[in-house]
Amino acid sequence: MTDRYAVIGNPIAHSKSPLIHATFARQTGQDMAYTAMLAPLDGFAAAAGAFRDQGGKGMNITVPFKQEAWKLATRLTERASTAQAVNTFKFDDGVILGDNTDGAGLVRDITHNLGFSIAGKRVLLMGAGGAARGVLLPLLAQVPAELAIANRTASRALDLQEQFAVYGQVRVSDYADLAGQQFDLVVNATSSSLNNELPPLAAGIFGPDSLAYDMMYGKGLTAFLSFAEQQGAGRLADGLGMLVEQAAESFYLWRGVRPATPPVIAQLRV
Ligand code: ATR
Repeated sequence: MTDRYAVIGNPIAHSKSPLIHATFARQTGQDMAYTAMLAPLDGFAAAAGAFRDQGGKGMNITVPFKQEAWKLATRLTERASTAQAVNTFKFDDGVILGDNTDGAGLVRDITHNLGFSIAGKRVLLMGAGGAARGVLLPLLAQVPAELAIANRTASRALDLQEQFAVYGQVRVSDYADLAGQQFDLVVNATSSSLNNELPPLAAGIFGPDSLAYDMMYGKGLTAFLSFAEQQGAGRLADGLGMLVEQAAESFYLWRGVRPATPPVIAQLRV
């Protein structure tokens, strides 16, 4: 019997996950099917439960259900527990294992695909919402020289600082106070690019070797990446690589096989 998986969200029609996982399955010879499932905004638990009852082996969970998925899981990985969000379910012997592969996907894209080592570097994370929370633990695990968080609403950044204190030191800064402080890696985990907006970034934070990374992706440069380019950042990357890498990490959890990601990223670029 072909093992069945699905990505669940609302909206879901434009999800690239079915294409990514079909490509992984072909590449690795895994007998599996992966579909997209639209759940009503008030019907996540019912839809996920029905898929599981019908023999589904696992799911990816996307906007806006990641927090509900975190609550629904009966067992959590540490990275999902700290993220307070789940993007991957594995159904196994009555257990709903909840994992969060977003941060691992970001780190793998930066370190493997872009060849940029985070260890010992000065890192700025912009944003303190779900996306930022989801990547903090894997970023800290790379042991940067410094991890600073800037957020419009300072209290949310302070909450993250407190919650993650056991894992490493996080410095909270206002955007305005960053003027003239250079970072090696600046990650945009705000949702500002969705509205073609830009966090109120000060000048002087990028050097010629700095990598500007936007977790969003789309056609052309995001507002953040355009700004970074104008400000002299030597390297720019959007979140397409992260998307493929988080999928590969989910695939590995389910199937125990690591697909080759660079050809899939290249295929999605065109
Ligand atoms: P997500 O799950 O995408 O992180 P979220 O929890 O709503 O969504 O968080 C959105 C993040 O983007 C927040 O850090 C938000 O800043 P505030 O906490 O101050 O609201 C940030 N954000 C959204 N639009 C922004 C903008 N135009 N400039 C700066 N930050 C922005």
